[in-house]
Amino acid sequence: MGYIEETYNFKDKTVVVTGSSRGLGREIALVFSKAGANLVLASRDSEKLKVVAEEIKSEGGRVLPFSVDVTNKEQVEALMEKACDEFGQIDVLINNAGVIYRVPAAQMSEEEWDDTIAVNLKGTFLCSQAAGKKMIEKRSGKIVSISSEKGLVGFPERSAYCASKGGIVMLTKALAVEWAPYNIQVNAIAPTYIETEMTREILSDPEKYREVISTIPMKQVCKPRDLFGAILLFASEASSLITGQTLPVDGGLTAW
Ligand SMILES: NC(=O)c1ccc[n+]([C@@H]2O[C@H](COP(=O)([O-])OP(=O)(O)OC[C@H]3O[C@@H](n4cnc5c(N)ncnc54)[C@H](OP(=O)(O)O)[C@@H]3O)[C@@H](O)[C@H]2O)c1
Repeated sequence: MGYIEETYNFKDKTVVVTGSSRGLGREIALVFSKAGANLVLASRDSEKLKVVAEEIKSEGGRVLPFSVDVTNKEQVEALMEKACDEFGQIDVLINNAGVIYRVPAAQMSEEEWDDTIAVNLKGTFLCSQAAGKKMIEKRSGKIVSISSEKGLVGFPERSAYCASKGGIVMLTKALAVEWAPYNIQVNAIAPTYIETEMTREILSDPEKYREVISTIPMKQVCKPRDLFGAILLFASEASSLITGQTLPVDGGLTAW
């Protein structure tokens, strides 16, 4: 095998993707499955997970759909146990589950704040912790978290979201340093707007779309596939000496 085939080889690797019932998580799961990985699909909506699992199975992929709330430690631990029972080990964890409330800070409710931090930040920690324990045992692993450009720069009406995604940037560094001795690389990506359900309302409004685009030097928002290169880099052996980093995939927004 040449360098490229060897380095980007996901055949029979086990990849856990949180928030894979729809949107970016579903697309990430399909990409890894097409590359020969065993997929563990994890989010709350079991019906939608089944649909994605059927899609994967129909193309010959191996898949375990598992209904989980990433804010619940017991459920998250059960998820990682089941993943190991089914496929033997966890090679890659993609922390993708996330929520957003677009509310002025002065009007944000305590529930909206708590839910954002619980899903985006605590959920990322709990999943990393439970998968990390398994990776420590086998002395290898890759954790890739989906932060956001809003974890790197401030945005109006996104206080909780910015705080949670900025928290992921620092959590990524802390886990990277702590788990480096176990050959576990922990990295994150920071996308700009992605065309998914989360942004449908904003991106389908021509005025809001123009406003969004005006902040992006490349004058484009992300399609899920624009993120695959960065995700595959961090999930593969190509990043064996890269850890603790957050890579913007933002058409230059954070380069202004
Ligand atoms: N869309 C964007 O513009 C954009 C930009 C930058 C970063 N991101 C980040 O990219 C990630 C994916 O976003 P998306 O656009 O694909 O969002 P989406 O379409 O709204 O999907 C969110 C996913 O998260 C899952 N989820 C939410 N709460 C959960 C919980 N408590 N436990 C388990 N799963 C939960 C949902 O599944 P269930 O409902 O089945 O639980 C769903 O699969 C998020 O972290 C988001 O913050 C998005």
